[in-house]
Amino acid sequence: MSTIKQSQLATRLAQAGNRSDTTTGAISVPIYQTASFVHPGLGQSTGFDYSRTSNPTRLALEETLASADSGHRGFAFASGLAAIDAVLRLFSPGDKLVVTEDLYGGTYRLFEKIYRPLGIDALYVDTSYIRAVEEALALPGVKGILLESPTNPLLKIADIRVIAALARGRGILTIVDNTFLTPVLQRPIEQGADLVVYSATKYLAGHNDVVAGAVVTATPALSERIAFLQNAAGGILGPQDAWLTLRGLKTLTLRVARQQENATALAAWLDHHPRVRRVYYPGLSSHPNRNILLREKSGWGAMIAFEVEDPARIPEILSKVKIFLFAESLGGVESLITYPYLQTHADIEEATRQRLGINDRLLRLSVGIEAIEDLQGDLENVL
Ligand SMILES: Cc1ncc(COP(=O)(O)O)c(C=O)c1O
Repeated sequence: MSTIKQSQLATRLAQAGNRSDTTTGAISVPIYQTASFVHPGLGQSTGFDYSRTSNPTRLALEETLASADSGHRGFAFASGLAAIDAVLRLFSPGDKLVVTEDLYGGTYRLFEKIYRPLGIDALYVDTSYIRAVEEALALPGVKGILLESPTNPLLKIADIRVIAALARGRGILTIVDNTFLTPVLQRPIEQGADLVVYSATKYLAGHNDVVAGAVVTATPALSERIAFLQNAAGGILGPQDAWLTLRGLKTLTLRVARQQENATALAAWLDHHPRVRRVYYPGLSSHPNRNILLREKSGWGAMIAFEVEDPARIPEILSKVKIFLFAESLGGVESLITYPYLQTHADIEEATRQRLGINDRLLRLSVGIEAIEDLQGDLENVL
């Protein structure tokens, strides 16, 4: 596995899929809107037979995903949850996975409502606390660990490098949901992870106009398994959405840099605001485990969570914002505000939400590329 320089990544992404059509010389990869491909003769193939198995537009995206993450292969799915679902199919009844406790509510629902009844159990752990992870990995039946880092919505940081080494020593697969930082800021396979998953709906596609997911594998053996599962279960991304995601990827480095710059300024300002009780942002010097990101030379990303002093004001804040859009999702060029307690994390039991800190005061921002004065002004007005 080779590591990528940041400058190489910018070039690779800007040029993604270009000149793949040698017949016409089209710069942009064509949208191959076809279900099937003609065989040149019996027992012959152009390399493409049926679009569930492979499609040239999707392949251009998948090769870009693999290359951006220093992976062996990339796979594009119909959504982030379809991608995570494909990875969970690697496990068998009786297997256990150690899972980040404050993870995305939809992934929690997938574990609790679909995989637990099938005999695959999640053990929820604070994965920012290495001793807790070490103990959980030693429990009988643990075959995988699924990390979100930073977590959603509380932005806790896990030490992927240390955890992946511990897991490898026990033959346990490390899976990282890298939706929040993207390969621009964090490349988990370079840190020892076996699989990376994405909601490509978010930063990768980046314009709130497509739902997509991705898996990147570290080894040929895992690639073979995921390719089989992708084709056998069929949760693929269609060619139009693959094209949109690929187009988004071309500007990923620019967007992420600008979004992080805006988020850093907003978090510092919110941190001193009299109506704000607490700010969660890995870019603040007060953030625990920030040293891990410093060591890995990763960035902080552009997701911020904060608690307001008065929870009774939440409905007014959400209805009065003018630039921030009150909508679920994240990672697009436009800034969004959400209320995790009743939205993304509503599926988590009340007691657990309270224990984790996902409470009725907490708001989550996905900071976009707008002018920082406008974003700050909007929040100042409503706070
Ligand atoms: C961290 C994370 N992982 C996975 C998902 C699921 O992705 P999708 O909505 O594309 O299915 C989300 C969605 O919000 C997410 O935030």
